[in-house]
Amino acid sequence: MLECVFNEHSDSLTLPQELRTMNAEQAKARIVSLTEQLNHYNYQYYQESQSPVSDQEFDFLLKELEALEQQYPAYKLAESPTQRVGGTITKEFATVVHRFPMLSLGNTYSEEEIREFDQRVRKTLGHEQIDYVCELKFDGVAVSLTYQNGVLVQAATRGDGERGDDITTNVKTIRTVPLRITGNDIPEWIEVRGEAFLPLSSFEEINKEREENGEALLANPRNAASGTIKMQDSGVVAKRKLDCYLYSLTGDKLPFTTHEQSLQWLTSKGFKVSDSWRKCSRIEDIMDFIHHWEKNKHTLPLAIDGIVIKVNKFDWQQELGFTAKSPRWAISYKYQAEKAETTLLSVEYQVGRTGAVTPVANLKPVVLAGTTVKRASLHNANEIERLDLHLLDEVSVEKGGEIIPKVTAVVVAKRKPHAQKVIFPAACPECGSTLVRQEGEAAYYCPNDKGCAPQVKGKLEHYIHRKAMNIDGLGAETIDLLYQKGMVNTPDQLYDLRYEDLIKLDRFADKSVKNLIDGIEKSKQIPFKYVLFALGIRHVGATIAEKLVDAYPSIDLLMAAKEEELVAVPEIGGRIARSVKEYFDNADHLRIIAGLRKAGVQLERSAADAPKAGLSNKLEGLTFVVSGVFTQYDREELKDLIVQHGGKIASGVSGKTSYLVAGENMGPSKLEKAQSLGVKIIDEKAFAEMID
Ligand code: IVH
Repeated sequence: MLECVFNEHSDSLTLPQELRTMNAEQAKARIVSLTEQLNHYNYQYYQESQSPVSDQEFDFLLKELEALEQQYPAYKLAESPTQRVGGTITKEFATVVHRFPMLSLGNTYSEEEIREFDQRVRKTLGHEQIDYVCELKFDGVAVSLTYQNGVLVQAATRGDGERGDDITTNVKTIRTVPLRITGNDIPEWIEVRGEAFLPLSSFEEINKEREENGEALLANPRNAASGTIKMQDSGVVAKRKLDCYLYSLTGDKLPFTTHEQSLQWLTSKGFKVSDSWRKCSRIEDIMDFIHHWEKNKHTLPLAIDGIVIKVNKFDWQQELGFTAKSPRWAISYKYQAEKAETTLLSVEYQVGRTGAVTPVANLKPVVLAGTTVKRASLHNANEIERLDLHLLDEVSVEKGGEIIPKVTAVVVAKRKPHAQKVIFPAACPECGSTLVRQEGEAAYYCPNDKGCAPQVKGKLEHYIHRKAMNIDGLGAETIDLLYQKGMVNTPDQLYDLRYEDLIKLDRFADKSVKNLIDGIEKSKQIPFKYVLFALGIRHVGATIAEKLVDAYPSIDLLMAAKEEELVAVPEIGGRIARSVKEYFDNADHLRIIAGLRKAGVQLERSAADAPKAGLSNKLEGLTFVVSGVFTQYDREELKDLIVQHGGKIASGVSGKTSYLVAGENMGPSKLEKAQSLGVKIIDEKAFAEMID
């Protein structure tokens, strides 16, 4: 095995000597074999839970492949595992028109209606003996995958059912989605549909990290999955660890007669099909399936919201047909969300570091889905109003896919006489300032960001956090003390703290003071992207801060950016752009930044943190086809140069080709096609001038 030198802070790879001396043919063969080997390991790891090689070995091989592909982009295969790591940015997703509309399912919460469905099916078909396939109803986001001659060529969201978004690069990062399927029974065209989802463990991991980062939590795994699948940076999608269960197959001249066979075929081709499906011939078997999963759904690695019952025979599906919105051959039975009733003891209003005021219900403890619940979210003032909440009300608490239970209803009949209505406060419970609400936002905010204790302390705690400035020797208790003593109100004032002042404080001894001063001093070396996150600009989490720094490598450039320029940055929408602008329009914030600058905190990206650029971006946005033999360059070298200068390489001439770089003895068909499409044809000399 060859080891590549990989620099974590850049995208570049240094090839070992052996690779650099490989000729094109050898490189091509190595690319093919590495691709096959890594895809096989991937399959074993993700589908069969086996680890034939160590993570380190896998990474070495992947990096070797990456390096070879960088050097010989033309040999990169459609199923290359390097696509799994993402990295492409999609500012706007292209629209995909579904060949067959993506319909929804009729659903019911009643077992009686399932029995009626079965009777309807039997009556319409005139058969007593009907086989059904029962499946789980996965709670994620529907995706459609198109394979042409076995290669994944397109992935799309459901959208409005007729048209969805092209999310191919994002879906390619899902390790269990095959990039290519093989065998001598692969139809020219197939469409596989299924549900992309965030496993509960990944969902909890992400939320834990977001909580630590002081970022808003994702409400539930479904929202998290649909938000992730539409992210602009596929590199971020790759890190989120989405997964995908497939449950339907359509295609040209498929040899199957039943849904069961198509599921078996999908499984045999390496698609991830949940093995929870069962063929049921009697209504009682369907009921057993329903009850079994209602009881055991907590054992699953993902959220489900019910089950789906499908007529097994394709002929019969066709005979039953569709209504305008859904098939008549399938129905879903939805599980009631897990609920409990309890008494509302009081409502507490918490003020966060951004000033947002969140109402929280204190409840008489009650067991719900296996855990004791004492507090539940009330979201915002609108929700309190909608529930018409009164103190000591009997309330219904639900745990949907959400981690935090919520109050969903009031049992009005059980309301105590003269119960006191819950009124969202007009003033901040911490500092008394009149609360404000921004247009289009549900939350009320306390505007007193300079004088409201939880906001001031919350911002300081955020600044020193491990994921932000990571200041050792400083924790919430010390922040509280420094704030109480009037020594620190804003992050820049941390840098004015002196040994003489700190040693006078209770709880501080020589060692702890030195530790603290040392920690503060060290934070001056923390890279700019962490500093930007540490400032605590509303809606700017760690990832967004990184994106902003990629586009604006210094605080001065960021401060000068216009709102419309900010929204052009990947992942930055109007809400974030406005928040950034507002932050820098505030004189107090400018004072903090001036203080940080004076202290020597990093307010620009250092050269070491800058992504290593290619040679230039002179060819950005241009697509080249290279053909023939050249004198000045080896053909592969020429292709390499195109990539290093930001251009793209295509194998065939099309309307999208910008230039055909023509060498000696090139094929006449490429030349003719380029001429007929009006593609510019250049020789190697003209190319050399372009990149000079
Ligand atoms: S079959 C014609 N099977 O439910 C509809 N759908 O309400 C074909 N879903 O958008 C869908 N698990 O995203 C089917 N085992 C399953 C499913 C499933 C989840 C979702 C799917 C669809 C929605 C329909």
